[in-house]
Amino acid sequence: MTTKPGAGLAGITAGETAISSVGKEGMGLNYRGYSIYELAEHASFEEVAYLLIRGKLPTSQQLKVYIRHLMSLRNLPDALKTVLELTPGQSHPMDVLRSGCSVLGTLEPETPENDEYHIADRLIATFPGMLLYWYHYHQNGKKIDTNVSNESTAGYFLHLLHLKEPEPLQTRAMDVSLILYAEHEFNASTFAARVTASTGADFYSAICSAIGTLRGPLHGGANEQAMELIEKFTSPDEAQTQLHEMLKNKSLIMGFGHRVYKTSDPRSNVIKHWSKLLADSVNDQILYPVSERIEKIMWDEKRLFPNLDFYSASAYHFCGIPTNMFTPIFVFARTAGWAAHIIEQRQNNKLIRPLAEYTGPSPRPYVPVEQRVSSSIQDS
Ligand code: COA
Repeated sequence: MTTKPGAGLAGITAGETAISSVGKEGMGLNYRGYSIYELAEHASFEEVAYLLIRGKLPTSQQLKVYIRHLMSLRNLPDALKTVLELTPGQSHPMDVLRSGCSVLGTLEPETPENDEYHIADRLIATFPGMLLYWYHYHQNGKKIDTNVSNESTAGYFLHLLHLKEPEPLQTRAMDVSLILYAEHEFNASTFAARVTASTGADFYSAICSAIGTLRGPLHGGANEQAMELIEKFTSPDEAQTQLHEMLKNKSLIMGFGHRVYKTSDPRSNVIKHWSKLLADSVNDQILYPVSERIEKIMWDEKRLFPNLDFYSASAYHFCGIPTNMFTPIFVFARTAGWAAHIIEQRQNNKLIRPLAEYTGPSPRPYVPVEQRVSSSIQDS
C-alpha cells in the first residue's frame, strides 16, 4: 500500500516555535540558536533545561541557584510514595512515571502560585526519585531516601539506581545524553503535549499525554528495542548474518532512520563517542563492535543511519542501567523540552484541531435494528 504525501503529517509545518530547529538543510540541531555540539561539549543538562524553559542561558550565579532549587524539590510526598508502593512491581517504568505525574498533579495541582515554571522544575527534580523509589521498593523491598546530594540530575539518577556514588565518566555520559534528549521540536510526544495544552488543560495533563506518546517503539521506546536487538548477537559476524535475514524479511531495525533527518542524526555521533568511552571502561568486546557492524550494514544496505536511540542503548547498558529504564531516562530529559513547548503554546494559544479527509460511506438512511439483515459472511 502506498502512503499519501502528508500521511502522518510528514513534511507538514504544523506551527511555529522559537525553541529548537531540527534538520535545517537535512541535518543540524540547535536549541534556541545554540548548536547541540557546543552544548554537549560544554554545558550541563541543568544549564540546557534552564535555557529551554527560561529562554536564555543562565549566568553562573543563576545556574547555581537553579541547581540548588532543583535539589530542594526532590522530596516525594508520602501519598505519592504510597501509590508507588501499590503500583505493581512488574509494571513498565513508563507507566510508573505517567501515573506518578498524574498523582503529583492531584496532590500539587497547578494554581497561580504553583505555576508552570515551578511544576516543570518539580517534575524534572522528582521523576528520577519516583522511578527509583518504586524500583527499589519492589525489587529489593527497600524504601529509599530520594534526597541524596548529587548536584546533577545525571549523578542523582545513577546514585539512586546503584545506591552509591556514581563514577565521573558514567555521570558525564549520562549528562550529555540528557542534553541530547532534552528537546526536538515537533516530535510526536511534544506535539501531543502541545495539543493537550492547546485545549486549556493543566500542565500535568499535557506531560501525561507526552509520556504516553513517548512510550511507543516508533518514538522513545526505540532505545529499549535497540538494546534487545544488539544483545541478541554474540559477535559482529553473527549480527551481520542475522541482520541481512531481517532486512530480507522487511523487519524494522530499531534505532535507525528518522522522519526529519535525511543523511544523519547529529546527536548520534556524540552519543556514539560516549558509548565507545564507556565500552572501553568496562572492557566490552561484543556490544560495541556488534553495534558498529549493524550501523555499517544498515548504511550499506539501506542508506539508513543510526538515530540517537541506537548508541544510547549500549551507553546506558555500560552504565548498568536496566533496559526498561531507557525510555524513562528520555522522559527525565525531554520534560525540559515539553515544558518549554507547553509554555510557548500557552503564550500564543490556538486550539489545535486539524481536519480529516473522510473515507467512509456516503450518507445513508438509518435502518431500525429489527429490520436489519446480515449482508455478508462476516455479519453472521
Ligand atoms: N529499519 C528498516 N527499514 C526502515 C527503517 C528501519 N529502522 N526506517 C525506515 N525504513 C524504511 C521503511 O521500511 C520504508 O521503506 P519502504 O519505502 O520500502 O516502505 C522507508 O525506509 C521509509 O520509511 P518510513 O517508515 O516511511 O519513514 P517514516 O518517516 O514514516 O519513519 C521512523 C521514521 C523513525 C518512524 C522509522 O525510520 C522507524 O520506524 N525507525 C525505527 C524506530 C526508531 O528508531 N524510532 C526512533 C526515531 S528517533
